[in-house]
Amino acid sequence: MTSVGIDAIAIHAGKLKLDLAETFAPAMGDEPEKYTKGLGLHASSFPDTYEDIVTMGANAAHKLMERKGLEPEDIGRIDVATESAFDHSKPVSTYIAGCLEQVFEGDFHHANKGERKFACVAGTQSIDDAYNWIQAGRNRGRSALVIATDTALYARDDPGESTQGAGAVAMLISEDPSLVELSTEQGYGSADETDFLKPQQQFPSVDGKRSVQVYLARMREALVDYQSVAGEVHPYDIRLVPFHTPFPGMVRKAAVLGYRHMIRNTEIEDALAEEIGPQPREEAFDDDDEYLDAVREYTDALQETDRYREWYDRVVDPTLTISRHVGNWYTGSVHVARASGLMELADAGEDATGATMLVGSYGSGAQAEIHAETVQPGWKDEIEALDIDEQLESRYDLTFEEYETVHDAHNHDEERSFQEFTVPDGEFVFDGWGRMGERKYDYVE
Ligand code: HMG
Repeated sequence: MTSVGIDAIAIHAGKLKLDLAETFAPAMGDEPEKYTKGLGLHASSFPDTYEDIVTMGANAAHKLMERKGLEPEDIGRIDVATESAFDHSKPVSTYIAGCLEQVFEGDFHHANKGERKFACVAGTQSIDDAYNWIQAGRNRGRSALVIATDTALYARDDPGESTQGAGAVAMLISEDPSLVELSTEQGYGSADETDFLKPQQQFPSVDGKRSVQVYLARMREALVDYQSVAGEVHPYDIRLVPFHTPFPGMVRKAAVLGYRHMIRNTEIEDALAEEIGPQPREEAFDDDDEYLDAVREYTDALQETDRYREWYDRVVDPTLTISRHVGNWYTGSVHVARASGLMELADAGEDATGATMLVGSYGSGAQAEIHAETVQPGWKDEIEALDIDEQLESRYDLTFEEYETVHDAHNHDEERSFQEFTVPDGEFVFDGWGRMGERKYDYVE
């Protein structure tokens, strides 16, 4: 079977920053630790007034194509994953292709373009589509461009407001990839859920507490399904677990449940039993509530053990570094987690070639997907080419009043025009409206 996976990646973060501890917490009357410790978030990234899902996606794709020396004819598909689309018919990928055609010679007239929607899991689904297209031999030697781009805004005063974020991740899916190879095996956990949705509205209706429970339930189902095809997963065979990360605190909850599941009936459960007892087994309880209480108690104790903490610090924590400073990017979030984990390994000088990652994607509504990825020999060069640290450093730090203005500027119901906070430089910008209500874009040198 052909080796197919992610060959290259580029990230574009919204150019504005809202500091949650310094700026948001005091304005909301909250303790900063609620955000920095509870949710695990320090800042959110926001798009400037001339940025949107198209400019962020096009800027990421442009950077990726330039770095890899690609021309439009090298690309056979452009799939955009987003839940912030502004058009029910014309896909965002056509706008992005139009932008790229302003700066590259040639065009994308023979590339298949589309848009994927399933909340945050759509980016992973687009990678799946590209994988299948290449494995089917339909790609004519060309690669697929997958772009996950979102402006993840909540209504003002919604509990989700502190988890906002904006940015895009562009990924090149190719044969014989340089970064990671994708496993054929996949596991799904999918159910009709009403926890987070946007029925004909820009800002989501969210049942936040329930969304956390649904995330955990679907992720568990996906792990069981994955193991049914890939076999038992041993937690110490995995180097990184990038999860969909709406906020790092969510991943903290998911990771301990995954670990608990993976160590059941293993020598690790036995070793830990001396300290915290064996895992409660459902058949040993007559009453469901008593069983659930026992499971909660075991999980809390597990989380405090040195053995678990060491595993978490090595396998999960590295994936959260970027997320802490950008918030939720919806479709891009799990792909940011992968990049973050690999950046940490590169910074530590580790040779990760051949290492396995278990990637846990999730979208509300709801569906989790788990697959494995094998790190490829070219990974370090690809990861070291990322400039996300510089981007985050140079963001404009908003006051609370400025944040309110930016939120308004991206509210589709607002018709006023707004001043920008930064000066565009070598990037695509939103440039007003066309005669049929389409959005127009320009490249600023
Ligand atoms: P909330 O009411 O703002 O916060 O809602 P909270 O009171 O639950 O506190 C959050 C955490 O901070 C808690 O920790 C507190 O204890 C802690 P936990 O008990 O959960 O471990 N805390 C503190 N810690 C230290 N010092 C303090 C302090 N104060 C409190 N002083 C909620 C939080 C997540 C519900 C909210 O932010 C929300 O609604 N977010 C949006 C929905 C969301 O992100 N859900 C996640 C799962 S669904 C998902 O990931 C899909 C999604 O990406 C969409 C898609 O797929 O398209 C959202």
